[in-house]
Amino acid sequence: MSGVQIDVVTLFPQWFDWFRGQRHVANAEAAGHELRTMNPREHTPLSGGQVDDTPFGGGAGMVLRVDVMDQALRSYYGVDPVELQRERRVIALTPGGRMLDEALVGELAAEHALTLLCGRYEGFDERIVQHFCSDAVSIGRYVLAGGELAAMVVCDAVLRKLPGALGHPDSASEESFSPALGGDPEYPHYTRPAVHRGWKVPEVLLSGHHEEIRRWRRARSRERGAVGGGSPLS
Ligand code: ADE
Repeated sequence: MSGVQIDVVTLFPQWFDWFRGQRHVANAEAAGHELRTMNPREHTPLSGGQVDDTPFGGGAGMVLRVDVMDQALRSYYGVDPVELQRERRVIALTPGGRMLDEALVGELAAEHALTLLCGRYEGFDERIVQHFCSDAVSIGRYVLAGGELAAMVVCDAVLRKLPGALGHPDSASEESFSPALGGDPEYPHYTRPAVHRGWKVPEVLLSGHHEEIRRWRRARSRERGAVGGGSPLS
């Protein structure tokens, strides 16, 4: 198996030190996948480590400069960043991008290499997205202080799909939104004790009847899919 290489371009690479220490990420790395970080500040051609600037046309905040990203990607990969997207998916994390869902995660997990660009402050000079990126991805219609947490969400969702990341090889196969569940959310789980404060585990799960359990789980999964999720009781 050849591993998947995920590079995160971020002004805050230290955020990923914690993430790298998490079990499934460490497992994925031990299984031959790679998570690397690159800081554009280390490659900026501007003095004083400058990476951003005020927006043309006015407005609050700072914008990551296209010349800085150009130089950073060029130094790191040794190719013109315009060409980089031919070799690997280059993804800008931005609130207005394509919404991350299980289908997109599956697509990304099938790639051999990804580069995730994290914006900060007011985001990227649009030419970065237009000329260097194959995709723009959002993790939700809200604005984070930067793309790092969004990149971590993408990494987490992708890495756990890769062989070797999860302890049990079946863990990712029959889970929420998987084809095995017809794209529905996962059914509810219960464990010991069978009764707590009078709250009982559904009888069928204790019955040992595998076919009935399967049918019960499928029905609960469908119900959750129909409701659209969100209710802790569904
Ligand atoms: N950067 C800031 N907010 C974001 C979001 N919601 N998704 C992806 N990247 C972001």
